[in-house]
Amino acid sequence: MSKNKKYTPGDRIIIFDTTLRDGEQAPGAGMTVPEKVQIAHQLARLGVDVIEAGFPFSSPAQAEAVRRIASEVKGPAICALARATTGDVEAAAKSLEGGKKTRIHTFIATSDIHLETKFEDDRYGKTIEEKRETIKRMAVDAILLAMQFTDDVEFSAEDAGRTGQEFLCDIVKAAIDAGATTINLPDTTGYCIPEEYAEIFSTVLKHIRIPDRVVLSTHCHDDLGFAVANSFAGVRAGARQVECTINGIGERAGNAALEEIAMIFSVREDLLGLKTGIQARMLMATSKMVSTFCGFSVQRNKAIVGENAFCHEAGIHQDGVLKRRDTYEIMSAEDVGQTSESIRLGRHSGRHGLYNRLEKLGISITEDNRERLYEEFTRLADRKKEINDIDLFNLLEENTTPMNTPHYQLDHMEVSVGTDKKPEASVRIRHLRSGRSEEKTATGDGPIDALFRAIDHAVSEAHDLINYSIRSISEGADAFGEVCVLISIGGPCFAGKASNTDVLFASAEAYVNALNNLAAFRSDEESIQFVNDGIIQAFQGGEA
Ligand code: KIV
Ligand code: ZN
Repeated sequence: MSKNKKYTPGDRIIIFDTTLRDGEQAPGAGMTVPEKVQIAHQLARLGVDVIEAGFPFSSPAQAEAVRRIASEVKGPAICALARATTGDVEAAAKSLEGGKKTRIHTFIATSDIHLETKFEDDRYGKTIEEKRETIKRMAVDAILLAMQFTDDVEFSAEDAGRTGQEFLCDIVKAAIDAGATTINLPDTTGYCIPEEYAEIFSTVLKHIRIPDRVVLSTHCHDDLGFAVANSFAGVRAGARQVECTINGIGERAGNAALEEIAMIFSVREDLLGLKTGIQARMLMATSKMVSTFCGFSVQRNKAIVGENAFCHEAGIHQDGVLKRRDTYEIMSAEDVGQTSESIRLGRHSGRHGLYNRLEKLGISITEDNRERLYEEFTRLADRKKEINDIDLFNLLEENTTPMNTPHYQLDHMEVSVGTDKKPEASVRIRHLRSGRSEEKTATGDGPIDALFRAIDHAVSEAHDLINYSIRSISEGADAFGEVCVLISIGGPCFAGKASNTDVLFASAEAYVNALNNLAAFRSDEESIQFVNDGIIQAFQGGEA
């Protein structure tokens, strides 16, 4: 523990949620602006302190998401990410204009490996020492500029986990002197082990006087599975902000999982004496909302929010739990919102039951959308015996997600399979810009392959299929299947998602949705559907 700061029991950990920024950087996890706004409202109800809502300079859709969240979501500070450049900081400030509590988060890489590659150009300096001076000056300039728009400015030394101690302390000191109020030391590549990561904070606290106005922050990636352990080690060494995401989604292997961080400080408060402001009972609904909107399922055995997290299989465990819950459970399913609803929604449910459940799930719907959603709900209830929470998130997603003005529409599809014939699919696709329809037939290795080939013939948008995934998102033989398709043109990736009780139909729709996103990108339309290219390019390049 540092001699500069006294950490008494009851100390508060600031939860900085970056689901909508770093979380969304997970390839294929793109969310639409309305989905992000829903999630941001949910995060506010969950009790996070800061919401990093996006990276405005990287795309118009990112800027729009930050603008809407800053003006609509009350409670947490709304943060926008910016590289240490004038353009980025100004774009962040502009998106945050309508907000009351706002933060600009500016970052620049500090490790030698990043300096030598991203800042290779001689204009940053010929030697590594010269490059370091340039980087430091850019960081200071960006902080000073950001402070003209808000007094809450965060600075991140990107790849701090692999940055030499001396330069790290040097740039941290310069950032604090320039006025930064949060200093974030990310383990960008998930390289550190907990002792090493803790050591970074101890070193900074040892060599720099940290004023009371400044908070140190952790930001950990999970490449070695240490994201949560490293965040925890950082807190033990003096950090008081943790950057994390719902379900641990994020770049590559992801970020530290918010739900795990929150429950560590809640369950082990006896040992740590540290608190977060998280309303743990909202964790499960938030996890489901994020997993539905970004199309990433949660593994069954995931801590806190996995389906099996509170299930007991072995007889000896079941017996123990029945006699006394805490023989095998350190928290209860109810504590984190893993409860089964006593009121079941189905064909006989009315508006009141539906709206009531939506409210419990933290879903806000406008008056205009209510009736439409109810009609969709009754249509679904005719097809499916019981409607669960995930079905509701999906209904909501379909009814509030405006697409880019589409280029293609699937008007008809037919698939035939049999034990002695090659699967064959026929589709009719309408080209909405020209009004013409294309009918094509193809065979394939399976029905989905045949369908995709037929769609390819009817559409002619060159691309590679990167990923196809299908999962059951509700229970029973009549379950909803959700299909996520990721296509690429050798750099930018385009995702398409669709869900239906008929998985072949969902597959075709998801594929056409991805093609629509690709077509919108090719025709250079301003898109409100986020396409990951902006962020990826911004992180790969150095300066804009
Ligand atoms: O991992 C990282 O370094 C980041 C920074 C932008 C904070 O996400
Ligand atoms: Zn990150």
